[in-house]
Amino acid sequence: MDDFEAIDFFRDEALVADPYPYFEALRGRCPVQRENHHDVMMVTGYDEAVQVYNDTDAFSSCISVTGPFPGFPVPLEGDDVSELIALHRDELPMSDQLPTMDPPTHTDHRALLMRLITPKRLKENEASMWHLADGLLDDYLAPGEGEFIGGFAGPFTLLVIADLLGVPEEDRQEFMDTLQRRPAAEAGVGSTGDDTLHHSPLEYLYGRFTTYIEERRREPREDVLTGLATATFPDGSPPEVIDVVRVAANLFAAGQETTVRLLSSALKILAEQPELQRLLRTERDRIPNFIEETLRAESPVKGDFRLSKVATSVGGVDIPPGTTVMVLNSAANRDPRQFEDPAAFDVGRANVRRHLAFGRGVHTCPGAPLARAEARVTLERLLERTSDIRIAERAHGPAGARRYDYVPTFILRGLTNLNLEWSEAR
Ligand code: HEM
Repeated sequence: MDDFEAIDFFRDEALVADPYPYFEALRGRCPVQRENHHDVMMVTGYDEAVQVYNDTDAFSSCISVTGPFPGFPVPLEGDDVSELIALHRDELPMSDQLPTMDPPTHTDHRALLMRLITPKRLKENEASMWHLADGLLDDYLAPGEGEFIGGFAGPFTLLVIADLLGVPEEDRQEFMDTLQRRPAAEAGVGSTGDDTLHHSPLEYLYGRFTTYIEERRREPREDVLTGLATATFPDGSPPEVIDVVRVAANLFAAGQETTVRLLSSALKILAEQPELQRLLRTERDRIPNFIEETLRAESPVKGDFRLSKVATSVGGVDIPPGTTVMVLNSAANRDPRQFEDPAAFDVGRANVRRHLAFGRGVHTCPGAPLARAEARVTLERLLERTSDIRIAERAHGPAGARRYDYVPTFILRGLTNLNLEWSEAR
């Protein structure tokens, strides 16, 4: 790609369908390379990405989701912009959400979250996933063809988080009706893809969970919501109701769209590669590795942002204070210095679990075990209940001339819709 300097990664629609040649071009120039249109340092190298993720002394997460948009409220001048960040971080979008917090606030709020998704809770949640998946598949599979995201992946990921947080059965349909939405195709490439988290869905979640938590604090019951309502910070102090509500809303916001993209990428790959599908049907113990390779090759979160607080250097490149850095998980996961023949989809790849699809360091995705379990349950049940899954040519065109639409954001990577056909297993 010769003209890559002319390309505006944050606005160019052509990169939505296939961002990988652009990432290659950037890395070919330098694994830490400035993007001129929005003045962002793009980190496409694996080791360099890990370095940024692990250095919370030099980098703040205050812009983790929004990056160069909408800009910092004041000019970031001086040798150390930590104080300016502390003064103005509350004015930035999503400042009350975990991904944008820095230690020590992040440490406390993350600990609160980890008390809600304990190994025991995750185990119980996984047990109900099988039941949830089969319930949805009864309807989805019946016609022999259907759109996978609206028909299965969207409702499944929503119901799994509702179950994790103990949303009572009788309220789940209302959650589905309010939160289940069509992909944000109207949002435009400049969007961060976080519009799902804004306005009414987030307000709805805040309202719902405030009621739940207040009720359970007044009258504790034997249920998961009571556990949520009575969880404490690491020092034993009780959080404000709003702190707990935020954590619950965070889980819906961070866990749903991402997992939908993973599930749909996995199904697309399986439907496009009949031999691989046959292999997974006969050797089910390969499913976990298949999921990891999907996460590596089609990372649902293309990247996250960091803001440098002080002068530092990454991979030998100087980063001045106040620099917006984009750590590109998708690009690091295709760094040939780390993954041999990175463009090839190799279900037997030995070091695949080293991928950065879930990030690294203090913000590393706490939902990773959940997302992996959701993918495993989905694949196990779909492979069990069908004998052959195919791409619907009517929607995507014939093999060799397929048409796919991807979510038009610079943050997420994944399909807006995936139309499949299948033969049900006898
Ligand atoms: C395939 C699915 C998923 C992917 C690819 C993914 C990816 C990520 C990444 C890359 C981060 C780090 C962001 C940063 O460093 O700035 C993150 C953070 C987070 N994820 Fe996930 N995620 C997925 C599923 C989930 C699920 C299912 C949940 C919860 C139910 C979840 C909850 C969170 C939360 C709360 C954070 C913020 C953690 C923190 O800031 O300490 N994610 N995720």
